[in-house]
Amino acid sequence: MQNICILGGTGFVGRHLVNRLAEQHLNVKVLTRRRERHRGLLVLPTLQLIEADVHDPVQLSRCFQGCDAVINLVGILNEKGHSGSGFRHAHVDLARKVIKACLDNGVRRLLHMSALGANAGMGPSHYLRTKGEAENYVHTNAGKELKVTSFRPPVIFGPDDSFINRFATLLKISPILPLACPDARVAPVYVGDVVDAFAAALHDPSTYGKRYDLCGPREYTVRELVQYTAKVMGVKRLIIGLPKTLSRLQAAIMEYVPGKPLSLDNYRSLTRDSVCKNGEPCPTTLESVVPQYIRDRHGR
Ligand SMILES: NC(=O)c1ccc[n+]([C@@H]2O[C@H](COP(=O)([O-])OP(=O)(O)OC[C@H]3O[C@@H](n4cnc5c(N)ncnc54)[C@H](OP(=O)(O)O)[C@@H]3O)[C@@H](O)[C@H]2O)c1
Repeated sequence: MQNICILGGTGFVGRHLVNRLAEQHLNVKVLTRRRERHRGLLVLPTLQLIEADVHDPVQLSRCFQGCDAVINLVGILNEKGHSGSGFRHAHVDLARKVIKACLDNGVRRLLHMSALGANAGMGPSHYLRTKGEAENYVHTNAGKELKVTSFRPPVIFGPDDSFINRFATLLKISPILPLACPDARVAPVYVGDVVDAFAAALHDPSTYGKRYDLCGPREYTVRELVQYTAKVMGVKRLIIGLPKTLSRLQAAIMEYVPGKPLSLDNYRSLTRDSVCKNGEPCPTTLESVVPQYIRDRHGR
């Protein structure tokens, strides 16, 4: 596994992963829709940054030529409109094209990023249903030569996350925080642990055909996470947990705020706890990592 092609390698998880793979002197080809935006990655000596439309089967196939392994990290949290077609395009249709391009080019290994709670039939949101469909598709259609492993993390934290950092930004600007789904339970996982799991699986035959839930070592409610962030920042804020109907209303309104900080589909995902029932938790605690980056980015 020397030549690796990564889709979604310019994102939050992707940037951490390509750094890790470059440290291992692997040749990493990162596909992006906008090369100019991610030129910073070019400092990595074994990295190639290629502008490509990954949804175009011809371009995708060309990019996979000569690759031993493919890693698909592409995922979206929001779509235009509400029909689910945007999620389907980014998750399911792309997974199909990835499988075909892998098979056409003799790629032997595929690592696929899914999400905890992904479930094709029973997921509460378009996000979780399409993630589930894509995950099932890659496992069912890879054939004998292409070995697939998929990963199912809950929300991921790390220095440049858009999770704890988003809470911190809101806490900085507002003395009162009306909080949707305050009692939803999550077991956030550290981005370094997620990247470790991918990097280790790449070369490990015991992971072939497996699906891994990747939770952090502790569970929290959303309210506890916001309270913890406020404590680390040294600010006192009034956090008002919203009941279901108001949480839904807040999500419906936030859809119209630029950047869609919360959508109805996100709200539906939050109606299910995002905690692991099986498997060993990943080791890194939130408390051992978050204070440093919150202080670095948000002062105090
Ligand atoms: N972050 C979390 O808390 C979390 C939790 C569970 C699961 N996940 C999953 O982990 C994966 C990576 O998450 P992330 O937080 O690193 O995401 P991210 O920062 O938003 O990055 C996503 C990447 O995918 C590419 N991308 C996005 N939309 C695309 C589209 N429509 N077509 C083609 N490429 C597209 C982007 O590349 P370019 O813009 O360069 O083309 C970007 O680099 C996703 O599959 C996500 O669902 C994330």
